[in-house]
Amino acid sequence: MTQAPASASPDAVTRRETSWIWFDGRVCQYGEAKIGLLTHGLNYGTGIFEGIRAYWNAEREQLYILRMAEHFDRLRVNARILQMEVPLPTAELCSITADLLRRNRYREDIYVRPLMFKSAEIIGVKLHDVPESFAICMAPMGSYVGTGGIRCMVSSWRRIEDTMAPARAKCTGIYVNSALAKSEALQSGFDEAILLTMDGHVSEGSAENIFIVRQGVLYTPPPSDNILEGITRQTVMHLAREEMGLDVVERSIDRTELYASDEVFLCGTGAQVAPVIEVDRRRVSDGEPGPVTLRIQDIYNGLVSGGNAKYAEWLTPVYA
Ligand SMILES: Cc1ncc(COP(=O)(O)O)c(C=O)c1O
Repeated sequence: MTQAPASASPDAVTRRETSWIWFDGRVCQYGEAKIGLLTHGLNYGTGIFEGIRAYWNAEREQLYILRMAEHFDRLRVNARILQMEVPLPTAELCSITADLLRRNRYREDIYVRPLMFKSAEIIGVKLHDVPESFAICMAPMGSYVGTGGIRCMVSSWRRIEDTMAPARAKCTGIYVNSALAKSEALQSGFDEAILLTMDGHVSEGSAENIFIVRQGVLYTPPPSDNILEGITRQTVMHLAREEMGLDVVERSIDRTELYASDEVFLCGTGAQVAPVIEVDRRRVSDGEPGPVTLRIQDIYNGLVSGGNAKYAEWLTPVYA
């Protein structure tokens, strides 16, 4: 029997169990999809996943999937890193996802979770010649972290190095790194963790990329600082340049530069644009979300639910 998380209402559990998903080439209900205890991906973390948001626009009675093709394209690249092959072209995956959202008749914000994993029930750590499974699940989701101003700590855990495991890939096993940092932060009374690279540069949050603002310029760590190459990060860079005329520079950031910044914010599919108002018990500027962050947040929030025709190509409407 599936154990419900303590916070999930019976209704939410029933809705999840009976929600339509994609699993190994067919549509079925979430509760029907089963895997064995010896599944390779479960034992060794040999899986990759994506996180895609769909935003409900109540006025238009429309659900918009945000930058879906980019997420499936990234999944394909990540699959190669783990010697896997995504079974279908991106266009087909997009159409399956939209179809599932329709079948589930969602009229709220949804998080879509494509998941690919080595599915053989065997003992043996390797990547090659291990069969794979592919699933697309989905569930309602609100905010992942606060969007009104969060308090962060620099984690005692360092971000995984690309020489150890592929930092740029959303690889399931690597998320132990994020989970350690996130729990340390929450259990120490903070909202989120910021991880440094092994050589002491700022890398990213536990599930978000990071930006700082200094004298009107945006800075964000480069991919070589072991970040996950975030799609929201790309979106933010685009919006800052095109909508606000700001310079955006990818360069390494030191820990104390976080303390000296005018503004700091995190961004990601889950987190969206989240202003950071405190790092390591030091207020960022006056301890309020800054004007650049708030403007970016505002533009981002407007476009994700279809409020900006210029960015219509980033959105896939689900309903006719
Ligand atoms: C470790 C990590 N960094 C950054 C991000 C942000 O990536 P994206 O904007 O593509 O969601 C995520 C997203 O889940 C993540 O897990």
